[in-house]
Amino acid sequence: MPAASPRASAPHPVEPATLVLFGATGDLARRKLYPALYDLERQGALRGLHLVGFAYDDLTAEAFQGLVAEALAEHGPARADPGARAAFAAQCAYVRGDFRDAARYAALRDLLAGPALPPHRLLYLATAPAFYPPIVDQLGASGLATPAAGAFTRIVIEKPFGTDRASAEALNRRIHQHFAEEQIYRIDHYLGKETVQNILVFRFANGLFEPVWNRNHVDGVQITVAETLGVEGRGAYYESAGALRDMMQNHLLQLLCLVAMEPPVAFRADDVRDKKVEVLRSIHPLTPAEVARSVVRGQYGEGHAGGAAVPAYRAETGVDAHSGTETYAAVRLHIDNWRWGGVPFCLRTGKRLPRRVAEIAVTFKRPPQTLFTDTPARLLQANELVLRIQPQEGIFLRFAAKKPGQSIDVVPVEMDFAYSEHFGEGELDAYGRLLLDTLRGDATLFTRADETEAAWRLIDSIRGGWDAAEGGSLLEPYAAGSWGPVAANRLMARGGTGWRNP
Ligand code: BG6
Repeated sequence: MPAASPRASAPHPVEPATLVLFGATGDLARRKLYPALYDLERQGALRGLHLVGFAYDDLTAEAFQGLVAEALAEHGPARADPGARAAFAAQCAYVRGDFRDAARYAALRDLLAGPALPPHRLLYLATAPAFYPPIVDQLGASGLATPAAGAFTRIVIEKPFGTDRASAEALNRRIHQHFAEEQIYRIDHYLGKETVQNILVFRFANGLFEPVWNRNHVDGVQITVAETLGVEGRGAYYESAGALRDMMQNHLLQLLCLVAMEPPVAFRADDVRDKKVEVLRSIHPLTPAEVARSVVRGQYGEGHAGGAAVPAYRAETGVDAHSGTETYAAVRLHIDNWRWGGVPFCLRTGKRLPRRVAEIAVTFKRPPQTLFTDTPARLLQANELVLRIQPQEGIFLRFAAKKPGQSIDVVPVEMDFAYSEHFGEGELDAYGRLLLDTLRGDATLFTRADETEAAWRLIDSIRGGWDAAEGGSLLEPYAAGSWGPVAANRLMARGGTGWRNP
């Protein structure tokens, strides 16, 4: 019998642990991590978490605690009262230093050796990616990568994990010099979203859908992650990333894996990840000709967002006035295996689109014969199942029904399941859930080394196609507030249906 996943026995508080947060004064820490940790503590999920911030800013411990309290006031739950925020902040220690300075790691080691701090350790890298290699090396050299007797030491690494396959492999090799793969948690916050996890439950805890989840019944799959935001002051980073590296390589390919993977033998980290890697390995790298046919890249010009005029991408702070970086990418892929052979998977993501929405739409094949000839063909829509990831998390199924009346008029109707109506608001956000998993030692929702590398292999082939395009690859303009470049429609037109623009 397979051992139960740690997840199966989940809700008990985790062991007391020390969390060392590299990049403790940064944006991610302030916007996401402190609020998530505060929430976990408030819900009783953590038993004695001790936080040690490590960053370059010249702050006293008190000033750092002030920064944490401020972050909670700004980004934490609205109901958080000032006393509780201050109490949370008061338990945070601070180590000031250069991430490359061995002496600062010696100071950190001494601090961590103190009797007040639990020996279980979580080392969280929330810095700019350029610092990952030196931090990992210093942790190794100072002995901090090695767990204390009877305790765990785990390292959590934020995206982007490399910028291509070669750099991801190099980074994996570097980390593996000091940490075993079981200690490494590569985070993709999309996997922490409630509805993303529900994809697996939906598929593998129901008998109804799995028999039709294949090329015999599915006509096509669309995955959309649309954002209304622009680059929000991250222009300098985004210039070197673009939509392909920033979103497609990780979040969208992860969603694709969950939708397309084979059933794992158990809901355990390596069993699930083995099946996800198989999906990535079944997508052949695209040739330049396929890239030209099956990928569309775009960049937003000026337009509107939330009713206000917004500037073009090239006018954003930190962005080159002639930038060739894509803020939109759409790609049509095929998974070459028995389950999915011939089924198009169309993925798209973009900034400054009209709505913030993430969803997966599975379109089923139409019935082989149209009996209801009185109904115009356009009303005879295919069955569609939509897994809505955000906002308004839910699942809906579209099917045909007879419109009441004397004639047989067939109209599409929907069965709609909304999470919030059924369960109320979720308890944890994606970061909270993933942090808890790292403390529990459950790596199911984290990407393994081979998975990251396989995802980059596909992305590299797309970038290679762009680089090889004669006269440079086409960058299609779109107005901020529109559904992206018109050229993206051609990817769908080949499949017969259009993009769903919810
Ligand atoms: C991040 C990207 O990984 O995901 C951002 O770097 C993007 O550019 C963000 O805005 C989207 O996350 P979410 O959870 O708001 O959909």
